Amino acid sequence: MCGIVGYIGTKKACPILLAGLSRLEYRGYDSAGISTIEKNGLSLVKDKGRVKILENNPAINTLEGTIGIAHTRWATHGKPSKENSHPHQDNSKIFSVVHNGIIENYQELRNMLEKNGYTFLSQTDTEVIPNLINYYYKKEQEHDIHAFLKAVRNCCLDLKGSFAIEVISSEFPKNMIVVRKDSPLVIGTCESEKYISSDIPAILSYTRDFYFLNDLEFALLENTNTTFFNSNLEEINKPTSNIEWDATASEKNGYEDFMLKEIYEQPTAIRETIGSKISLESKCDFEELELTKDYLESVNKIYIIACGTAMHAGLAGKNVIEKLCRIPVEVDIASEFRYRNPIVNEKTLCIFISQSGETADTIAALKLAKLCGSRTIAISNVIGSSITREADYSIYTHAGPEIAVASTKAYTSQVVLLNMLALYFAEILEIVDMDLINNIKKEMLLLPKKIEETFSCKNSIQEFAKKIYQEKDVFFLGRGIDETVAKEGSLKLKEISYIHSESYAAGELKHGPIALIENGITVISILMDSSLIEKTISNIQEVISRGAKTLVVTSHDCNTTMFDEVIKIPDTIPYLSPILSVIPLQLLAYYISKEKGLDVDKPRNLAKSVTVE
Ligand code: AGP
Repeated sequence: MCGIVGYIGTKKACPILLAGLSRLEYRGYDSAGISTIEKNGLSLVKDKGRVKILENNPAINTLEGTIGIAHTRWATHGKPSKENSHPHQDNSKIFSVVHNGIIENYQELRNMLEKNGYTFLSQTDTEVIPNLINYYYKKEQEHDIHAFLKAVRNCCLDLKGSFAIEVISSEFPKNMIVVRKDSPLVIGTCESEKYISSDIPAILSYTRDFYFLNDLEFALLENTNTTFFNSNLEEINKPTSNIEWDATASEKNGYEDFMLKEIYEQPTAIRETIGSKISLESKCDFEELELTKDYLESVNKIYIIACGTAMHAGLAGKNVIEKLCRIPVEVDIASEFRYRNPIVNEKTLCIFISQSGETADTIAALKLAKLCGSRTIAISNVIGSSITREADYSIYTHAGPEIAVASTKAYTSQVVLLNMLALYFAEILEIVDMDLINNIKKEMLLLPKKIEETFSCKNSIQEFAKKIYQEKDVFFLGRGIDETVAKEGSLKLKEISYIHSESYAAGELKHGPIALIENGITVISILMDSSLIEKTISNIQEVISRGAKTLVVTSHDCNTTMFDEVIKIPDTIPYLSPILSVIPLQLLAYYISKEKGLDVDKPRNLAKSVTVE
C-alpha cells in the first residue's frame, strides 16, 4: 500500500528517488510524485499513473536538489488524480510530505484546520499532515530545527491510524524528518548519504546497513548524521542492522517477470530456509524460541494467524503440527481473528505468518494475542519487519526478497518452515517415532531437487494455459492437504489472471456448488495424498459426467484417459506435498496471465504489502 522513498546526500536526489520508486512500484501504482529541496524552495512534480509517466514529465529534468522525497500511490482516500497524488504540501508551501498508511481521524483534523483558515486541494487523508505541521510550527516562538521536530511530533501525536511519513522543509534545506507508526519504513545509511524506503530491497544496491524505527520514534536526518528521538523528543540510540540479502536478488536477472523468477528461485529458497537446522544426526534446532517441554505440554491450542497466501501456508502447517504433536491447531484470517473475541490465553501459542512482516491486520491480531497473555511467534521473510519486532520470538524464511505481488517462493518456504517447527515441537515433546521424524527430514532435504524436477511440467502447463485463458470460471478441488493447495491455486489464478475461481473440498462439491458445473467448465484437481485419491477421483468423475474439462496434478499413476490433462510431479510425503503440487498451479496462473497480456507482477487493485486494515 503505497511506497515511499527518500534521499539525503551529496548526489542529485531525483534519479535515486525515481529508481527507488520503480523498485517500490509493486506496493501501489496509480500515481507517483516527487519533491526536492531546490535553491528557490521546494519542488513538486506529480501525476496520475505509473512511475514511467513521472519520469517523462519535463519538470523532472530541472530538479537539482540533493535532498528529496517520493511516493507511489495505492489510493485509499480520493481517486487516482494529480491532486490526490503525493507529495502534499501545506498552504504556505514550507513543508512537503509523503505518507503511507491511513489517517483515521483526518476529517476531524481537516475541520479543525479549516476553522483555522487552512484550505485543501485534495480529497486525501494525507493533506492534513503538512498543514497540521505548519499549524504547530507557527505556534513556536523560535523557528529553529527543534521547532521543526516539535511540530512534526505534535502533528503525529494528533494522528489516529497508521503512518510512515517523510517531511522536508524549505526552511531546513539540510534536513529531513521521518517517523512511522504501524506502517513500514527503513533507513539505509552510509557515510555521507541516507536512503529511506518502505522496504529494504528498493535501496539494497546502495547499502546493507539499516536502522529500523519503532512506533513513534523520530529520525532527524542530515547527510552525515542521524539523530533519533522518542515521542517525548528525548534523544535515543539506535543500532544498525546488517542485511545479508544480495542486491541482485531484487533485479529480474533476465526473467521477463519477477513472478517467474521467484517461481524458479524456489529450490534455493527452500534450501536456504532449511539451512543447517535439519539433519539426520541431530535434533531440529530453534533455540531462539526457548520453548521447554513443560511449556509445550501446557499448550492446549495453537493458533496460526495470517492473511491470503500466508494463511494458506498456515493450513498446511495445521496439518503437520496436529498430526505430529497432537495439539489442536486453529488457522484464522487475521482480519477476522481480531474481531471474534478469540479464546486466547497463556495456554495458547499463537503463530503469525507474514512474508512482508508489515501486514496491518496480522500485526493488529498479534498485538491482541499478546494482550490476552499468549506467547507469540512471528514467521517472516523480512528481518527487522514490524511483526518480528512485536512478537515474543521470531523465525525467518530465507526466500530472499519477493517482489511480485503474487506470492510464490514465500509460500513454499513458509510451508517448509512450519514443517520444521512441527518437527521441533515433536522432538521436544518426545511423542513421535524417530523413524517418522527421520523420514520427514529425509524428504525435506530432497525437496530442492524435486522442485527442479517439477519444473519439467512447464510446457504442458503453458499449452493448457493457451486452452483455458479465456474461461470465465475455474474450479479447484482437493481433499485433506490437497484442499489447502487448491485454495492457494485458486487465489493465484484470481489475483493475476482476473478469472473467477473457487476452491472446494472435493467431497463438499455435491452439497451445492456442483450446480455450477456445466459443459466445458475447467476443474483442476490435486491428487497427492494416496489415502484419499480414490475418493477424490470419484468426485472428479461426478464433474466429468456433467461435462467438465479436467486437469489433474498428481504424483500417482492415474488413468490418463479419464482426464483432459494429467500433470505428473515427483512424489513426497503428504506433509510436504503442497511444496511440489503448488508449482504447476503457480505456473498455470502465470501463463494464463501472460496469454491475456496482463501485468503479472502488478495486478490491478492489489499491492504487495497490505499496510492498511
Ligand atoms: C499473495 O499472492 C497475496 N498477494 C496476498 O494474499 C498475501 O499473501 C497477503 O496479503 C499476506 O501478505 P504477507 O505475507 O506479507 O503478510
